[in-house]
Amino acid sequence: MTKLVYLHEPGVLCNLALRYRLNEIYTYTGRILIAVNPFAKLPHMYDMHMMEQYRGVQFGELSPHVFAIADASYRAMVSENCSQSILVSGESGAGKTETTKLIMRYLTFVGGRAIGDIRSVEQQVLESNPLLEAFGNARTVRNDNSSRFGKFVEIQFNKSGRISGAAVRTYLLERSRVVQISESERNYHCFYQLCASGKDADKYKLAHPQNFYYLNQSHMYELEGVNDAEEYLKTRRAMDIVGICFSDQEAIFRIVAAILHLGNIEFSPGKEFDSSVIKDEKCKFHLQMAADLLMVDVNLLLSTMCYRTIKTPEGNIIKAVDSSAAVIGRDTLAKTVYARLFDWLVDNINKSIGQDMESRSQIGVLDIYGFECFKYNSFEQLCINFANEKLQQHFNKHVFKMEQEEYKTEEINWSYIDFVDNQDILDLIEKV
Ligand SMILES: Nc1ncnc2c1ncn2[C@@H]1O[C@H](COP(=O)(O)OP(=O)(O)O)[C@@H](O)[C@H]1O
Ligand SMILES: [Mg+2]
Repeated sequence: MTKLVYLHEPGVLCNLALRYRLNEIYTYTGRILIAVNPFAKLPHMYDMHMMEQYRGVQFGELSPHVFAIADASYRAMVSENCSQSILVSGESGAGKTETTKLIMRYLTFVGGRAIGDIRSVEQQVLESNPLLEAFGNARTVRNDNSSRFGKFVEIQFNKSGRISGAAVRTYLLERSRVVQISESERNYHCFYQLCASGKDADKYKLAHPQNFYYLNQSHMYELEGVNDAEEYLKTRRAMDIVGICFSDQEAIFRIVAAILHLGNIEFSPGKEFDSSVIKDEKCKFHLQMAADLLMVDVNLLLSTMCYRTIKTPEGNIIKAVDSSAAVIGRDTLAKTVYARLFDWLVDNINKSIGQDMESRSQIGVLDIYGFECFKYNSFEQLCINFANEKLQQHFNKHVFKMEQEEYKTEEINWSYIDFVDNQDILDLIEKV
């Protein structure tokens, strides 16, 4: 990109388009890699042979590639003894999560240890991806496998540059999706996987997704080229590799099933003003199922939704709520239980992979979920977009600082360049 005669927007876009047509999806602009989503499987681009090729080669010597970025950060970490981070940014569907996985794959390749031990740290690091995706990814209008949470993976290395531990931190899981989905989108993959699991689905009295309110608000049940029954087995296998024991796996899916049953509980107005009762026999069945699966008392569960407790200095006042408030209570319970399950999964992944407290240095890879603008944007969306704007600002500052320093060392005379700055937007939200 820096070799272009005219470095302006049309020139940059034209260059990317020309290269894309030649199947060159990667382009450098200085130290930054631009990836254009190929929307096609390119296995030859990412196989063992390719990883071997990029290993230890001076940055810029070979064609632009995500492995070159990963290799450069690994080399810098080893030679400068200094932790590194890689920021993957772009709008929804641009290819961030796929890129992050490729970076992780390369780092486990150069920093891996003995092959053969199936529960090795690097295997666990890689298997944490399908597991987190089953519970944190969903189909959106833009992407069949859109991450609905942000992820920062720290891969820790020891003195000899070998992976010694890892930690996954997650941010801003989209809770609202558990109870509300728009047309042509889906809820989190794990719900459909469990419904398609056959024996396990029967055990939890589940059926086709169209029978559950949390799934049938949209008529999108299947994904092209994806078999949810097979995905269910993959998720279970990932749990094995990551070290989640059988009884914990059962507990996880019990909660997933309980949430689906919870969603089918409906309420009717009660005899008294502003009160609610459970609607009919079918709802009673789902209530009983939810209570059994969550191992709680069925009457307590019902009153949690139909009554509200108000704390006062004189003691607690218990007040009935109308049926629409009971639905809100039900949804809040479902969202909270799901969000806690997700956090529990992340904690367990971290515990089982293990952190190396004495690690010499680490490489962090940030995959935040992309900027999106819907017809109605919830508070959750605002937080996500705000995080993206902050990252963009960080990126701009970092890149311009790097450029400035390079000009200084090369003793090139230059004047400050003006660029589109999003600080105004950040100020609008951040400034008190
Ligand atoms: N390097 C790649 N090679 C092949 N397909 C890709 C690549 N990057 C992205 N894709 C395709 O695009 C889809 C969306 O990419 P994803 O990484 O999930 O987007 P984002 O995380 O930016 O929202 C993926 O499911 C995959 O089909
Ligand atoms: Mg993503």
